[in-house]
Amino acid sequence: MLRVLDGERLFPPPIWLMRQAGRYLPEYKATRAEAGGFLDLCYSPKLATEVTLQPIRRFGFDAAILFSDILVVPHALGQTVWFAEGEGPRLEPVTLDGLGGLDLDGMLGRLEPVLETVERIRAALPAETALLGFCGAPWTIATYMIAGRGTPDQGPARRAALTDPEGFARLMDLLVDASVAYLVAQLKAGADAVQIFDTWAGSLDDEGFERWAIQPVARIVAGVRAVVPGARIIGFPKGAGARLPEYVRRTGITAVGLDWQVPAVFARDNVQTLVPVQGNLDPLRMVVGGEALDRGVDHVLEMLGHGPLIFNLGHGITPDASPEAVSRLVARVRAARL
Ligand code: CP3
Repeated sequence: MLRVLDGERLFPPPIWLMRQAGRYLPEYKATRAEAGGFLDLCYSPKLATEVTLQPIRRFGFDAAILFSDILVVPHALGQTVWFAEGEGPRLEPVTLDGLGGLDLDGMLGRLEPVLETVERIRAALPAETALLGFCGAPWTIATYMIAGRGTPDQGPARRAALTDPEGFARLMDLLVDASVAYLVAQLKAGADAVQIFDTWAGSLDDEGFERWAIQPVARIVAGVRAVVPGARIIGFPKGAGARLPEYVRRTGITAVGLDWQVPAVFARDNVQTLVPVQGNLDPLRMVVGGEALDRGVDHVLEMLGHGPLIFNLGHGITPDASPEAVSRLVARVRAARL
């Protein structure tokens, strides 16, 4: 996987799946129950290491991703965050004139258990398995910090950014600094590369995408590389579509994750010419399995397998996906010939 991130084409391509540790796995559910709350799992080095390794043991993926959540950053900044069973994340919303309550200086100390998890995973992983760290992009984190929950159209954050752009820029500046510190700490603790998840990048218009998706991530990339030269950073601006080439050029990311709505022919001709790509099987094919899965896999390989590719889904695997479908996927990718 690191060779592909460095620009090489390998075929069959390396493979890992977003959310590969999760509720579709019975062993995850067992460890999750043992931990109690979801945040307790994220902050337990022993149990978070265990769930990170579960999909590696079962499927032999080429990369492990640190088990944590993007919302540990606002939590470690001092915002109240909790995970309501079956409802997703909940946060005590922040207001743009109340950012003084957030504490950047204390953040890394509170994230110490997560950094210990990175060290433990690296020590336990086979040498040939890459370890990925991650954070949420400032825009996506801000959508949760402002709304206090997931929203269908990220309306509360978009409204805040239009109503008070200076106040919103202060929140983004804080999240850029927090992300640089957190990613540098993960790389120093043993992560081989990091991914920046901008799940809600697609909800922004031209001005918003430039200011809140491109610029903050460009600053994170530069800030991390100022401390860790050559740091490998994967961007995942979900919903960026035709804006992907500009996003890649302007942010300086090493590789880019493609969601499943990006036409593969567009990605091949306009994105993979710039950087290695990662993706982009529709996660629903992991639920349906069978022929639908095989056709989807073959399409990704035929379209993107002629250049540097990391095989992945176009978004996280869902709780209703079947572990058998994942085994079938891995076997098909590993047996592929072009
Ligand atoms: O295996 C991995 O990929 C690593 C772990 C990981 C989680 N969340 C674990 C998790 C990663 C990389 C994330 C990122 C994340 N978290 C994102 C960006 C990527 C994406 O999927 O869009 C976002 C937007 C979040 C915020 C978040 N966390 C939401 C919206 C939810 C609820 C939805 C859901 O799937 O339940 C979570 C909870 C969460 N994060 C779970 C897991 C395994 C499920 C919680 C549980 O086990 O009860």
